[in-house]
Amino acid sequence: MEKIKTDYLVIGSGVAGLFFALKAAKYGKVTIITKAGLDQSNTKYAQGGIATVMYSPDNFEKHINDTLIAGDGLSDYEVVKMIVSEAPNRIKELIELGVEFDKKADGTYELGREGGHSFNRILHHQDRTGLEVEEKLIDRVRENSNIEILENHFALDLITQHHLGYPVSFCQDNIVCFGAYVLDTNTQEIKTFLSKITYLATGGIGNIYQTTTNPEIATGDGIAMAYRAKAKITQMEFVQFHPTALYNPGERPAFLITEALRGAGAKLRNLKGELFMEKYHKLKDLAPRDIVARAIDNEMKKHGDDFAYLDATEIPVSEIERHFPHIYEKCLSLGIDITKDLIPIVPAAHYSCGGVKVDKKGKTTVENLYAGGEVSATGLHGANRLASNSLLEALVYAHNSAISTKESIKNIDFQDNIPDWDDKGTTLLEEIVLISQEFKELQQIMTNYVGIVRSNLRLHRALKRLEILYKETEELYNRSKINRRICELRNAINVGYLITKMAIRRKESRGLHYNVDYPYKLEENRFLS
Ligand code: FAD
Ligand code: SIN
Repeated sequence: MEKIKTDYLVIGSGVAGLFFALKAAKYGKVTIITKAGLDQSNTKYAQGGIATVMYSPDNFEKHINDTLIAGDGLSDYEVVKMIVSEAPNRIKELIELGVEFDKKADGTYELGREGGHSFNRILHHQDRTGLEVEEKLIDRVRENSNIEILENHFALDLITQHHLGYPVSFCQDNIVCFGAYVLDTNTQEIKTFLSKITYLATGGIGNIYQTTTNPEIATGDGIAMAYRAKAKITQMEFVQFHPTALYNPGERPAFLITEALRGAGAKLRNLKGELFMEKYHKLKDLAPRDIVARAIDNEMKKHGDDFAYLDATEIPVSEIERHFPHIYEKCLSLGIDITKDLIPIVPAAHYSCGGVKVDKKGKTTVENLYAGGEVSATGLHGANRLASNSLLEALVYAHNSAISTKESIKNIDFQDNIPDWDDKGTTLLEEIVLISQEFKELQQIMTNYVGIVRSNLRLHRALKRLEILYKETEELYNRSKINRRICELRNAINVGYLITKMAIRRKESRGLHYNVDYPYKLEENRFLS
């Protein structure tokens, strides 16, 4: 089959992929492939906004410091400094691309507040910032004649020397990415894309848990693909649970109640109506997310409750209507008037702090493979991400990566002798139900044993169960014609395994990783490679 050649292959169409594509299109032809519709992404769901220092008395040092405190000793200071200080330039570019942020009557930007921030520094577009960013970037990408967009194209695997038949040991220290095998889910054809640079922007992992704020595309494909290509994956044990997803059993993804609502004065209560956050942290309801999520989890377990409450009734109605119209409408549709009623909430899997390790330019440990956005681990978030720092991280890294390829791309040739995808001997999978069943099992294992509070017993139990799931799925995968669901399942199991393995290795509690058998932080366990 004919190979498709492109200078830049961008996998994913959230903020990271789209912003990179716009930047890279200045230096070569860009092809964006994305597994569903162009706007299907975590980005579209972002509510709170983008953190950046705008006005004095806030300053870079304070934003850096807040990020480091949230990261609990694992953030890379140089990376934090770079991102925080490049933020205003990237935000300016976003505004030039058409993104609008809310302003006050005097024309200055209205800045929101979220947990762990010592200042109001969150630029937002009502409570739908992600949608505004995603839509405007899509408009600009569609206008760009150097960018081709292929929807319903699912990346199966990154192509490296292994596909040329070299033994793993032969190329261990110098693995090169030549592009990707991609399933066109419109036609079921498996296409070979050859690229000079591949940009992995596949987003998060939330769907490996039972309750998540992430849409269904978030199955960890990029991390699993990079792992199979032998790229370095790091800090997967740090899965962020958002404290306040709307408790509405059966709804997937769980609807987020933005932390900015707590920034505006909303407070957590248990089902007895008691305020409880002051028992857990001096910043009370605006403590870092790991602490708030654990506090809610603890209150729920202590009282045997299925949810807790968020009380926004003291926020002026006019502010709710102006700043949080989306949440107001959504809750009203369920019979909850948030200006009068308490909002039932539960913590939900939200963000992966770990991922594919990259340097300051977004380069992975595989040559010509870059990664940006949630799939990557830059060193910004450490053991816990500060709210609204991730859209920012994606913008800064997309810029740095594009600039870094400006010259190098001229010296990269396409690798021509790549074989077509081999699916001889496979048959159509008739028992799709097996896949959904295994997915549910995975979500149960991860939620029950590798959730907010962990123990050695639970982690080892998870590992044993995951090994069984892995074997069953590999067996199914090897004899079936490829389809998106089985690949997602396989990737999700892979990611669950990485989280569990890395959680077992960390013999302490730090940031988002809390193990009751090691409740303290250890100096020697800080940086595990
Ligand atoms: P995504 O936006 O998730 O995009 C990933 C893309 O990759 C998608 O297009 C997907 O279809 C595609 N893809 C995945 N796998 C494949 C494959 N195998 N083949 C082809 N394509 C593939 N962060 C903030 O900073 N501020 C906020 O206010 C905020 N609020 C949030 C609210 C919610 C409800 C959620 C879920 C997240 C929020 N976050 C927020 C986090 C932030 O939105 C994400 O981390 C960020 O948008 C990730 O961007 P991304 O481009 O890396 O990935
Ligand atoms: C929120 O609006 O609470 C989410 C912000 C984030 O995840 O950064």
